[in-house]
Amino acid sequence: MPSPPENSSWSAASWRKFPAAQQPDWPDADALKQAEARLSTLPPLVFAGEARLLTAQLAEVVDGNAFLLQAGDCAESFAEFTADSIRDKLKIILQMAVALTYAAGVPVVKLGRIAGQFAKPRSADTERVGEVELPSFRGHMVNDEAFDVEARTPDPARLVAAYQQSASTLNLLRAFTKGGFADLSQVHLWNQQFVASSAEGQRYERIASEIDRALRFMAACGIDLGAEESLHEVDFFTSHEALVLPYEECLTRQDSITGDWYDCSAHMVWVGDRTRQLDGAHLEFLSGIHNPVGAKIGPSCSPREAVAICDRLNPDRVPGRLTLITRFGAERIADVLPPIVRAVEAEGHPVVWTCDPMHGNTFTSESGRKTRRFEEILAELRSFFDVHREEGTWPGGLHIELTGDDVTECLGGAEEILEVDLEARYTTACDPRLNGRQALDLAFRVAEFLRS
Ligand code: TRP
Ligand code: MN
Repeated sequence: MPSPPENSSWSAASWRKFPAAQQPDWPDADALKQAEARLSTLPPLVFAGEARLLTAQLAEVVDGNAFLLQAGDCAESFAEFTADSIRDKLKIILQMAVALTYAAGVPVVKLGRIAGQFAKPRSADTERVGEVELPSFRGHMVNDEAFDVEARTPDPARLVAAYQQSASTLNLLRAFTKGGFADLSQVHLWNQQFVASSAEGQRYERIASEIDRALRFMAACGIDLGAEESLHEVDFFTSHEALVLPYEECLTRQDSITGDWYDCSAHMVWVGDRTRQLDGAHLEFLSGIHNPVGAKIGPSCSPREAVAICDRLNPDRVPGRLTLITRFGAERIADVLPPIVRAVEAEGHPVVWTCDPMHGNTFTSESGRKTRRFEEILAELRSFFDVHREEGTWPGGLHIELTGDDVTECLGGAEEILEVDLEARYTTACDPRLNGRQALDLAFRVAEFLRS
């Protein structure tokens, strides 16, 4: 198994010598030191061997032999932390995965934005309401969204709390995905319920009944669907944006088998569009860990910069090591993506090309709510598939913000959520998410693109 580059000056702490964007201003340096000391002694959340397995599965995506589904909350919340919400999120992701697996005819790599997605980059360091100016909300790993001094003051104890919540979340995910909840026949049954009970679902009756026939065909051939282990378990991996670097540093550990360093806070971590500076701390940190890593790329990224990011994060061109998550917006993707794809492919960089159709399509409604239109999300995805077909590259996957809850945060979809409906159930701690029905609708639409 090839490993990512050795970079002699790298250490888990070497990012500290580089400018680090988007870090909170921790007012109490001693408290931060204590939290770091504590985190450094806590057990890793994931095992290096699991991260290597994910790299291997992503290498299959690079080659067009698998598809990536990365999905979860924009920001996880300390307040909304229940077994039911974790279960419902996983359930939607599994339902999406079945439709995509069938349509793509290749395995779907299941990667949650979960069990660690607690930090948010912000466009301004402070927020002003009337005469009062307070630090911006940066995610529950840092502070709380309530607009008062105490809530907004960055508190390092939250780093440890985020670790604890990640550990419990991951524990439940492992139980669900290996303990029977992910059984293929069961997940298919949920999809059939969606098809039977919703207006948008009816459109997918054909795909659902084809899957049904495929399952019955397997059973008729003598495959015992209940006994076949691969049919009732899934590999489910975790990921988040590696934003607050002291947290990531303290969970970075040396693998006893290979001697390589892994960020054991998640299987995969990515760098955001706002923190991907070539000479910045975030790329320095990511360059030395051996996990699979991602980089978000927005419209301000030139083809040359994209190649430089690949060189920095994957100089040995290890397949599966690097995922480029493009997020241009429905309007711009057709212009901006092709030159980037050409430049990266011309340099021989093996990357997973994946589309985040959420973040380039955000706007503020007249009532002041951040929202996204289902149709625009779909339009960016459609363009993503078109561009990759034209360039001869594999559209490797999608990156989606969703929740299993019945929220009203994104506009449109079959329920026709309108601007006046946004207030009804708008609960996100950060960006607007697709609700369960919208997410499933989207997965079946993508299934249609994949088949055509
Ligand atoms: N284990 C296989 C996979 O992960 C098949 C499978 C079982 C599956 N349960 C599933 C696929 C639920 C998608 C969703 O692909
Ligand atoms: Mn977001």
